[in-house]
Amino acid sequence: MAALNVAWRRSVIAVAVLLGFFGFTLFFFPATVPEDLHGRIPFSGDKSPVEPAHAETSADDLSFINIVRALWKPLAVDITQKSFTDREGNVHTMGKAPYYTKKLGKKLVILDVDTRPLDKEGEVNAPEAPTWENLHHLSAGIMSHYLYAKIHGYDYKFIRSPEYDYQQGGWTKVLMSHELMKSYDWVVTVDSDAEFTSPELPLEWMMNYWNFTSKTAIAMANDPAGEPNFDSKHNVVLNTGFFFSQAKAPKVEEIYKKWGDCTTGKEYEECTKWTYESFREQTAFSEHIRYDFPEEGVIVALPCAQANGFPEAAGSGCTGQFLKHFWTEKNLSKRQLADGIMQAVVPQLYSSFKDSVVDWHMKSVKGNEIW
Ligand SMILES: *[C@@H]1O[C@H](CO)[C@@H](O)[C@H](O)[C@H]1NC(C)=O
Ligand SMILES: *[C@@H]1O[C@H](CO)[C@@H](O)[C@H](O)[C@H]1NC(C)=O
Repeated sequence: MAALNVAWRRSVIAVAVLLGFFGFTLFFFPATVPEDLHGRIPFSGDKSPVEPAHAETSADDLSFINIVRALWKPLAVDITQKSFTDREGNVHTMGKAPYYTKKLGKKLVILDVDTRPLDKEGEVNAPEAPTWENLHHLSAGIMSHYLYAKIHGYDYKFIRSPEYDYQQGGWTKVLMSHELMKSYDWVVTVDSDAEFTSPELPLEWMMNYWNFTSKTAIAMANDPAGEPNFDSKHNVVLNTGFFFSQAKAPKVEEIYKKWGDCTTGKEYEECTKWTYESFREQTAFSEHIRYDFPEEGVIVALPCAQANGFPEAAGSGCTGQFLKHFWTEKNLSKRQLADGIMQAVVPQLYSSFKDSVVDWHMKSVKGNEIW
């Protein structure tokens, strides 16, 4: 058994070392957008759902996924673990008994939505697969979400979205997140310049820590509490760079309907300007939608320190303890991807390396031999 384990570990390590040091290629699957999405989607529409990836497809894919799982197996944090120490050394302890005790697996999808072509060298839609050298920083972010999904067994979709007349840029995130809620219990929408700080920390742990329940419709990261991040009521705005949507939450359809239709100006006259003006869907949500759902626990604001920012953004107080959002120095996302992988590779590399250490340091020399 022990010998088998060692052999297995060695083969994992061999691939892991290759993966870590000579670059790697990840496969990702752009979800096909149903034909009938080419136009404005009424938020009450009944559209055909996206197929969740219930089974992995090719043999190559399977072996890569197995490597990923094997690499993170010793590290993955239990979803009910009482406390977690982040990379900066802060200890986060659950405030109450965990609400989620079973993994969500493929009931949860991590979603990237992008309207940009991203087809230049090193980008995710380029004709040639990226190398580690030419990998674009946004590709690093996007593929890190895929990697994270595979570590924890979630589903993952990258949707290359067209821009619709009234739903451009970030607005397509609202549209696509809503669309995927037809196929999943949870949709976790992440921007390409955001990355999970500790890939071993599962979302269910965070959801327990942040006190999510069956009532939680949307949870979204707070922005740093400073200018220009206040709305007209001087409340700090929420950032759509990282948000959870729960398909079965009682209020979620109502929230999405109001949000998706916000720029028509029918319900919120002033919302029309957020069709094209920054920060579009984000400002619309913070200025209007959230105030219509004041009931505690329906719209949850995630602490900025944990779910936004990055340590190099000095002074904001938001260091991305669980999720880093590189608003400015976007090139840090490539380093973050490498850091996340190395956290898993180094302990296994070391433990495998230890098997080859011959400890002769106490031996003495007699002639040409050691004793
Ligand atoms: C979760 O609930 C507990 C108990 O009510 C509370 O102490 C804790 O601050 C809450 N956590 C968050 C992140 O809101
Ligand atoms: C990122 O870019 C900035 C300048 O734009 C540079 O100063 C910094 O060294 C770069 N960081 C990395 C990790 O490449």
